[in-house]
Amino acid sequence: MTAQLVNDTSLGRPLEFEELVSILRNWTAGDLSSMAYCIGVLIHALAGNEPVRRRLQAGVSHEEFTAIADEILRQDSPFVSNRRVTTCPVTLDGVDLDEGQRVRIHWTAANRDPQAVGEPEAYAPGEGGNVSANLVWGAGPHACPGKYLSMLELKCFTEEFLAVFELIEVDEDAARREVYPVGGWAELPTYLKVRE
Ligand code: HEM
Repeated sequence: MTAQLVNDTSLGRPLEFEELVSILRNWTAGDLSSMAYCIGVLIHALAGNEPVRRRLQAGVSHEEFTAIADEILRQDSPFVSNRRVTTCPVTLDGVDLDEGQRVRIHWTAANRDPQAVGEPEAYAPGEGGNVSANLVWGAGPHACPGKYLSMLELKCFTEEFLAVFELIEVDEDAARREVYPVGGWAELPTYLKVRE
């Protein structure tokens, strides 16, 4: 794929370096890999939650879909951790860190931290729920700029999926969790029935 991109001349010229980086970063990592992991988590959650499945099937606004997907992804974030380097000495939760210290952020744990989230197991989408403690899309200057696009894609996928298929069940025995440093599902065999 990368070789094809590097040799692509469909614009009447080869792609520039910045364009190649942008396509590889945003499309392959963001659109394909992240989206696939999010879809796995979403399908697994929907298989176990008929009321939410019916609600989504009936059609919801972009805002409502975002709240639902955000909360499902908070409970079972496909992205486990990330790193930062301290730019000055800092005290974090009583621990002194020098400048230049590498800090690993455990997103999955933070998203389920009882001090930040009332009931980590409770499904509480939208305002008044767990939204303020949600780190699925990161936070601060590096928060995901692809969130709106991703939600749009996830919503289109979910609407089409539920319109075409009845989600019978996930084969929990055959399902396989992804392993660190990724979360979500490596395999999620799912029984579907095409709607009449
Ligand atoms: C599908 C679900 C996605 C999730 C859950 C997600 C999540 C995240 C997270 C947590 C970060 C922050 C990384 C950090 O703090 O270092 C991030 C960064 C980023 N995301 Fe996404 N992302 C998704 C899809 C996408 C898509 C579709 C695109 C592009 C079309 C995209 C583009 C980016 C870029 C460019 C950054 C880096 C921002 C920066 O460092 O300033 N993401 N994403």
